[in-house]
Amino acid sequence: MFEDLKAPEADKILRLMAMFAADPRPGKVDLGVGVYRDPQGQTPVMEAVRRAETIIAARQRTKSYVGLAGDPAFADALRRLILGDAVPAERVATCATPGGTGAVRQALEMVQRITPDATIWVPTPTWVNHHAIIDHLGQKSRAYRYYDAADGTLDREGMLADLAQARAGDIVLLHGCCHNPTGADLQPDDWRAVGDVLEQTGAIPFIDIAYLGFADGLEADAFGTRHLAERLSEVLIAASCSKNFGLYRERVGLCMAITSGPGPRAAAAGLMAHLNRQSYAFPPDHGARVVQVILDDRELRGMWEDELSLMRETMNTNRAAFAEALRAETGSDRFGFLAGQRGMFSLIGATPAQVETLREDHGIYVVGDGRLNVAGLTKDTIPGVARAVARVLG
Ligand SMILES: Cc1ncc(COP(=O)(O)O)c(C=O)c1O
Repeated sequence: MFEDLKAPEADKILRLMAMFAADPRPGKVDLGVGVYRDPQGQTPVMEAVRRAETIIAARQRTKSYVGLAGDPAFADALRRLILGDAVPAERVATCATPGGTGAVRQALEMVQRITPDATIWVPTPTWVNHHAIIDHLGQKSRAYRYYDAADGTLDREGMLADLAQARAGDIVLLHGCCHNPTGADLQPDDWRAVGDVLEQTGAIPFIDIAYLGFADGLEADAFGTRHLAERLSEVLIAASCSKNFGLYRERVGLCMAITSGPGPRAAAAGLMAHLNRQSYAFPPDHGARVVQVILDDRELRGMWEDELSLMRETMNTNRAAFAEALRAETGSDRFGFLAGQRGMFSLIGATPAQVETLREDHGIYVVGDGRLNVAGLTKDTIPGVARAVARVLG
């Protein structure tokens, strides 16, 4: 059975992680893998998470199964965090999933089941795994313009022109905030314009929100998702708690389907639970419980929000300092866009050959498309990385 098997090519980010681990140079810098790092270069367990885990350990009397859709208290807490009062709970079907990736897969499997002929409109560029999952499911997709690489900003005109070609029932994939890999986000006016196009075409938004709180704050970062939820009768949402709760390995995600009312909501919830049953039956519970305990406890929630603010400030401070160091190295504002972008990622505009030179000659690891994780920078590494980027990118 396995004699002639060719293993699928590993994801480029996972390949890079393996190369970094094998590199013996002490000064190597990892700007590839998508995890937050504090100013000491660590990815720590958040204090609010530690406390919640202590509470759970003391209270939990059983590890028995929970339910196919996970714990409703978790879903409710995360729904309120993301959607606020934008839409009544009676219209929202939810299902816990293993991470945000599980939620993306779940949402796209629902699309495949319900409307196999729908086209998924995907921004250029987007997170590599979006393409991988859509291709794996065999769903049709079309690219829409999103990023203007020349000046590091959103290509608003291109995006709106392309999305105007979507048909009723098509799915438009959007990043809720901290677009991966560009860091170029929609501003409130852009969200309104996207809402207009979606209303005109009848296409359905699918919002992947994996970095809530990493851009400008919990409320500001939820603006786009809430805006579309208020305006449209149907919205799909995939949420991740990997980054904003630092729960990467616990696999905490939530798939939400906003529907027109209680009947469709019940049907969507039933389909989600059914899809869970077919793949892994019960979603992981521990991390989801940690999130629920934090969100529902005033003190822990305050502590978590403070820690999240610190993480956001670290990234935004890194952005400003890196842009400034590059300004000094290049004598130009060529990389000034880095300061205005948001989240962990930005594209520095490097060719694959330049990415290789950064890695081989300078021990600096960025993803092959030039995606760099600003959270991987520290005060100590910024000058050297800026010097190398200026030299290699000319
Ligand atoms: C855009 C986007 N969506 C979803 C995810 C899913 O993350 P996880 O499955 O670790 O929760 C990520 C993580 O890198 C991401 O960048």
